[in-house]
Amino acid sequence: MPTHRGAPDVRVYPDPDALSRAVAQAIAGLIQTAVAEKDRFCMALSGGRAPFRTFRRLVEAFRDAVPWSGVHVFWADERYVPFDDSRSHYRMVREAFLDHVSIPFDQVHPMPTTEPDPETAARAYENLLRAYFPGPWPVFDLAILGLGADGHTASLFPGSPALAERERWVVAVREPTADPPVRLTLTLPVLNHAACIYFIVTGPEKTLALRRTLADAPDLVNCPAGAVRPVRGDLIWWVDQAAWGIPLSRADGALSVP
Ligand code: 6PG
Repeated sequence: MPTHRGAPDVRVYPDPDALSRAVAQAIAGLIQTAVAEKDRFCMALSGGRAPFRTFRRLVEAFRDAVPWSGVHVFWADERYVPFDDSRSHYRMVREAFLDHVSIPFDQVHPMPTTEPDPETAARAYENLLRAYFPGPWPVFDLAILGLGADGHTASLFPGSPALAERERWVVAVREPTADPPVRLTLTLPVLNHAACIYFIVTGPEKTLALRRTLADAPDLVNCPAGAVRPVRGDLIWWVDQAAWGIPLSRADGALSVP
């Protein structure tokens, strides 16, 4: 897969609150620009605590400032549980974000965990994406990703056969260490064709995974997040001080990264 990998764009903030304010502002800006230019903004979302804070901040600060009617929402991954399960990414995003902004209902596309089996669900979601996005790969305007302490991102876990997928857009995975073990996930080529990727990483338990991911030659099997390398798009690491791990000097709201 063609990639570019210069110095990573890492933006470190003193705490999760400052971080979520900055990410929300950046997301609002991306939406405003895209909707002004092409009437549409497609984003793929993740679960996790850090995205949750960002979504809440988007609602608090930008509910009336963003052209939500042009936003189309998809998911980067989903836990294979009913929509009302407390572990559902869809439920989290709906409660934190979608219930509070005016995105048209038919522009919100949760991964279908109501299919009889996860493989059928993965095919169904891939078909939905193929109908939405012409071309060999979908190009999301933004993919929001988290980082697991084990180096996983979306539901691409260390050692998973899904990491080698080069044709499918969506696959079902089984990861015994995860709760729940059965999940749906976008594949690496899909993520890597996004126009912009935001990783949001908070907490000291992420420091080691972050170091491994940002290494010059990451172990892509054991640290799947390191395999997220946009083909043409931008990749920004939004990180709090606790996850970054190294004390930094303050500069312009963000902390400067050496
Ligand atoms: C999940 C998510 C996962 C998440 C990371 C980070 O099911 O847990 O798919 O990829 O984004 O684990 O989560 P936190 O932001 O909560 O640390």
